Amino acid sequence: MYIFDNFDPHTFLASHWQKRPGVFKHAFANFINPLDEHELAGLAQDPRIDSRVVSYTSPAWQVTHGPIEDFESVCQGKWSLLVQSVDQHISEADTLIRMFNFIPYWRLDDLMVSFSNEGAGVGPHLDQYDVFIIQGKGSRRWQVGERGQFTPYRPHPDLSQISDFEPVIDEVLQPGDMIYIPAGCPHNGVALEDCMNYSVGFRAPSQQDLLSSLADYSLDLGLFKKRYQDQGLTPRKNPSELAPSEINSFRAMLHDVIDSAQFERWLSCHFSDTQLNQGYDPQHNPDYSLKEIVELFEQGTLFERQPGIRPIYLAKEYTTEPLEFFIEGQAYLAPTNYIDNVYSMLKSPTWQYDLTNKNAMPLSLEDFWVQLMCELVNAGAWLPQEEMDF
Ligand code: SIN
Ligand code: CO
Repeated sequence: MYIFDNFDPHTFLASHWQKRPGVFKHAFANFINPLDEHELAGLAQDPRIDSRVVSYTSPAWQVTHGPIEDFESVCQGKWSLLVQSVDQHISEADTLIRMFNFIPYWRLDDLMVSFSNEGAGVGPHLDQYDVFIIQGKGSRRWQVGERGQFTPYRPHPDLSQISDFEPVIDEVLQPGDMIYIPAGCPHNGVALEDCMNYSVGFRAPSQQDLLSSLADYSLDLGLFKKRYQDQGLTPRKNPSELAPSEINSFRAMLHDVIDSAQFERWLSCHFSDTQLNQGYDPQHNPDYSLKEIVELFEQGTLFERQPGIRPIYLAKEYTTEPLEFFIEGQAYLAPTNYIDNVYSMLKSPTWQYDLTNKNAMPLSLEDFWVQLMCELVNAGAWLPQEEMDF
């Protein structure tokens, strides 16, 4: 359970978001680390999880990518262990990142967790993404500057740094403090003792990212196959010429794509896909039958949303149509009379079939919740909590 103390989302968005860096001392009341350095090291041994150790032993920087097997040989001098997407693997980390739900899921990337020893850091650098960095265990000095002209260089092929910058923030962060760094602002964090940091990163897709994902989606689903037509073609004096009207026809073809309902579906589908499936343990992805799901409902089983899941749906003004929602790139449909309950299911860490509804039993295999939960469980997105006490 996390509670904001000296941090107000409304004020923050109005005054800082994408505008200027900020320090929020005591952003969290009684901050509890969602994991310790040993658990972090455990994650870094997993080949499915993106991790790295950045170390500095004068005069050279070293970067070692995970899975890390021999920590002793890699963690030399001043070193930081950095692990991406910890929110997909540790429930408490998922709970922490959900404190930032005042920003939409589709904007959120992941929770990166780092452990650094005294004097360590990854050096002064720029990130392309906005980030909140929460101070967990230990203390760390953070310097942040304004956006400007910086020429990154690579002291190691896998490490981008910049030379010194003029800090507008120079603060020591203690547990529960938080710093916000907009994309492109130079920053440098140096650990004053063993410390843990939690970076809530946001994504800002580029046009390239969008085009590439839209192209993949259209190929997968066999969409957007309309072909160019030019019945009014007249003899061309110079065959090399591509006429302005022809360019406009191509623009119109692509506008058709962007104006289609499929464009909206692709956006929702695209943003709901956090690549979580890559991290799934096949054992956690069982093959439940509808009948087994009914039995679990009857036993009052709690179903837990798996860490990292970020459902997306298109906001609708009226709820007179079924709701299409997307989880990990898969589409699901809720009939109109279930929409409100689906909204609350998608938001909650756990869900339970409402057995107090006297008319609900016996449940049919065609029941909406039975069908939905069966799909979600078999997709590894919600899982029944085992061994419930009654
Ligand atoms: C870290 O947590 O060590 C690095 C975070 C950053 O500066 O982006
Ligand atoms: Co950074």
